[in-house]
Amino acid sequence: MKNFPQKISQHLEQLRQKIDEHNYSYYVLDNPTIPDAEYDRLFRELQTLESEHPELITPDSPTQRVGAQPLKEFAAVTHEVPMLSLDNAFSELELIAFDKRVRQRLETDKPIEYVCEPKLDGVAVSLRYEKGVLTRGATRGDGLTGEDITQNVRTIPAVPLHLRGSGYPDILEVRGEIYMPLISFENYNAKARAAGEKEFANPRNATAGSLRQLDPKITASRPLSLFCYALGKVAGGHVADKHSDMLEDFKGWGLPVNPEIIHVTGIEPCVEFFHHMAAIRDSLPYEIDGVVYKVNRFDQQRELGFISRAPRWAIAHKFPAREEMTQVEAIEFQVGRTGAITPVARLAPVVISGVTVSNATLHNMDEVWRKDVRVGDMVIVRRAGDVIPDVVSVILDKRPAHTHKVLLPKHCPVCHAEVIKPEGEVVARCTGGLFCQAQLKETIKHFASRRALDIEGLGDKIIEQLVTVKLARDIADVFLLTKAQWLSLERMGEKSAQNLIDALDKSKATTLPRFMYALGIREVGEATALNLVQHFGGLAHIMQADELQLQEVADIGPIVAANIAGFFRQPHNRELIAKLQQLGVHWQEMAPRPKQNDLPLNGKTFVLTGTLATMTRDAAKEQIQALGGKVSGSVSAKTTYVVAGADPGFKLAKAEELKVQILSEDELLQLLKEL
Ligand code: IVH
Repeated sequence: MKNFPQKISQHLEQLRQKIDEHNYSYYVLDNPTIPDAEYDRLFRELQTLESEHPELITPDSPTQRVGAQPLKEFAAVTHEVPMLSLDNAFSELELIAFDKRVRQRLETDKPIEYVCEPKLDGVAVSLRYEKGVLTRGATRGDGLTGEDITQNVRTIPAVPLHLRGSGYPDILEVRGEIYMPLISFENYNAKARAAGEKEFANPRNATAGSLRQLDPKITASRPLSLFCYALGKVAGGHVADKHSDMLEDFKGWGLPVNPEIIHVTGIEPCVEFFHHMAAIRDSLPYEIDGVVYKVNRFDQQRELGFISRAPRWAIAHKFPAREEMTQVEAIEFQVGRTGAITPVARLAPVVISGVTVSNATLHNMDEVWRKDVRVGDMVIVRRAGDVIPDVVSVILDKRPAHTHKVLLPKHCPVCHAEVIKPEGEVVARCTGGLFCQAQLKETIKHFASRRALDIEGLGDKIIEQLVTVKLARDIADVFLLTKAQWLSLERMGEKSAQNLIDALDKSKATTLPRFMYALGIREVGEATALNLVQHFGGLAHIMQADELQLQEVADIGPIVAANIAGFFRQPHNRELIAKLQQLGVHWQEMAPRPKQNDLPLNGKTFVLTGTLATMTRDAAKEQIQALGGKVSGSVSAKTTYVVAGADPGFKLAKAEELKVQILSEDELLQLLKEL
């Protein structure tokens, strides 16, 4: 195998190109072309091969995003072209005045071409590409001198390590905004909260905090992204004549550009854009704090020039703030389905970006104590997207005299049972179980919800009444109510009562995964319920399983296993299930999947290479996995079979070298048939 190393380096290059291609589809075209699992597989294959051939690793390989060593400090970077900031307009009048100034300076009556962009609330960055290779990433700093954060920007998957295509200048500095998507921000905070660690006040702080890490491994663990919107230093080549064309070039070079950006003529459509963006603001996956208008023609931009730190050719039109100040009138405690006690701040009503806010979550007692929120305090409240408003911080200067630290109540505010907060846990819980009306209400709501038993018409208000007037003491009671009892509820007419009775009857024919989920066992969501059923088949088997057997189920660890076993150990839960079945709740039992050890391909690892004629590789993979076999991306001494389709590539060579048994497609089909 004389040309073996060359084949490997070719294959490595192909893998890297494929991964780059997928990054481009995902981040620039916003159109992922392969499932995440397939991407991961390619990535792992590249990692494995590179670890076998470290001499073939290139610095811009997608595996090399996280550098080796943490820094001692960030080096200073001088911006040859300063990083400017923007003037703000807070009203349409100010915007119209801006447009007028622009036309006066350009001595024209004609409408100006503008580009309208969302104003991202992140951290500005300058990325330097030399001959298409990313050589430096820097923060804005004071606009003239920033910090060298190259190690950290390299870890961000949306930042290309090299440019695509051609036509880019030898030296190209691209400016843009690094941001943390809202969902990632919320997930990060939820995790930090659960671990009793510090949360970030908003996505911008989260981005800044993540970029300020001296250890790039920490930055790499934070999900950051990028949109590009301006140029810095350019040398050894040309760029377009217009901002809008430059953005198109950016995309062609693999640099992500915000998809909402439009190009218009005159100031009126800019105003429309502002209203459009304000309307969709809450549904965007990232935070914006306004929009930016930029004169499109670069010759006009040059003519307009700068004033102090801001260009005369651009302006930011800001949205109303997401954060406002208000007073905490009371701190109350809510009880959830599993008894979790959540402190909630009742606020003097305040309008935040168009919505009146009078409640904010305080999440848990550790949060209340860390922020030291007290009744009477003035606080900063923040709302973003559709999430429940949050108390960001207390303004200590404004704290009135005689406030008190908030204490965790000893007894549940609803049922008066003892409240416990186990050592080391963040969440406090009411111990009242279903005797607690709050827990019972939430349990019935969950039981009736769409993805559980799906009892149409059994809404929150009705359930709250049922529990308050004690017509329902457990979830089964809803099936026992007579028409007269339904009619005794407030605002319940003849027709709604009949509809409810019919819906209850219909809901009795369910599936076991739905039923398992409907029981509301702590941390048993839909996916876990399905895994349980697929593993054990019938309810009786699930109920009998001990914690070790439960942990054999996919994705079930010791905590969830203890929750499940604990639930079924309680006699009243077993009685409840029997009662529901007697009342007619039923489903079809499923045959359990055989145990892994009993599957015919248990312990066998396959590698598929080349094109198969009669099925896709994914289909072959599914069949092998269903029979207990493993499918891996790379050939090693542990591989049992390499299945070679047409144009098999270098894996076949590797199989020959390692003397792994090679199967043709026909032989694979034969093998699967015989099992
Ligand atoms: S252009 C010469 N475009 O806003 C113009 N800035 O308040 C330079 N920003 O420092 C900026 N989105 O961090 C521009 N689409 C966008 C922007 C944007 C967010 C930030 C940027 C800048 C700050 C100025």
